[in-house]
Amino acid sequence: MHSRIAGTGRYLPSRVVTNAELAERVATSDEWIRTRTGIAQRHIAADDEQTSDLALAAARQALAAASMAPADVDLIIVATTTPDMIFPSTACILQDKLGVHGGAAFDVQAVCSGFVYALAIADKMVASGTARNALVVGAEIYSRILDWNDRGTCVLFGDGAGAVVLVPAAEPGILSAHLHADGHYRGILCVPGQLRNGTIAGSPFVHMDGQGVFKFAVRVLAEVANEALSANRMTGSDIDWLIPHQANLRIMDATAKKLGIPLEKVIATVDAHANTSAASIPLALDVAVRDGRIRAGQHLMLLGVGGGFTWGSVLLRW
Ligand code: UT7
Repeated sequence: MHSRIAGTGRYLPSRVVTNAELAERVATSDEWIRTRTGIAQRHIAADDEQTSDLALAAARQALAAASMAPADVDLIIVATTTPDMIFPSTACILQDKLGVHGGAAFDVQAVCSGFVYALAIADKMVASGTARNALVVGAEIYSRILDWNDRGTCVLFGDGAGAVVLVPAAEPGILSAHLHADGHYRGILCVPGQLRNGTIAGSPFVHMDGQGVFKFAVRVLAEVANEALSANRMTGSDIDWLIPHQANLRIMDATAKKLGIPLEKVIATVDAHANTSAASIPLALDVAVRDGRIRAGQHLMLLGVGGGFTWGSVLLRW
């Protein structure tokens, strides 16, 4: 038994914030942000929107694309670093908002690699028959953990959600998943604050060593992609679409070059969405599915990297 993706969906909050708008708030410019990152704008959630609301809208679209109802799903995994609350999990809240109950539901916390981690887990559960059909969502509201006075981080992130429905299949589907982490690097990208006895101890905002993250990301993305290629006896030329984590166009370009994959085969949405952490890969996937670039039989390489540090790949046949 194998698993395959039967439908995708996405949701982006309606408010769009341009680089020019940010330049009114901090010492930055549209030109700096575009040339250093490829980002032109980001979507920001409304005050009354929660991560589970973004996840719900994306999930409904993915279910509709798969011609399935919420009751057909018996596993919900939400990859998020910005949950509605400490507990219950955003997956349990999403399950309730979908109007179903009884199936397994839990969150995965692997920061920007979260969707790849969640998809890898769901694949194993569906392929083994532990779950029948799975809903896998990446959903984030990073705008609430950013210091909007720190130009080094606030220009980089956005809010959004992407979702897929995973179903059993006689043929793969998902060909391989490779996951890694190295906690030694936990300090170069983190939100170090803790809730302690009713107050926040430490900073509740994203802290990042940008250049450290950049170098680490380019190295491990190429490594894990090569690991997947050799496990499947493939080369870069067998990949129809590279869908890397959408943090910085320069990281994506450098990774594609290392793999010998032409830039035309890289799905890039970072210009319109910015870095939406665990949501970035399913958002990019849904965009390319719906605009017709991704077609049956093609090979897709999903690559995640993020705080932890965590990284991983999912290689699949569409
Ligand atoms: O999901 C993973 C999350 N994070 C990432 O993927 C981020 C990875 N890192 C990066 O994308 C890049 O390192 C950044 C885009 C964050 C920064 O680009 P960089 O080319 O590495 O710039 P830098 O950190 O070396 O900074 C260059 C200059 C500095 O000024 P000085 O010291 O040369 O005077 C910064 O203070 O750019 C300055 N700077 C800015 N200037 C205008 C930093 N942020 C900004 C800004 N606008 N927003």
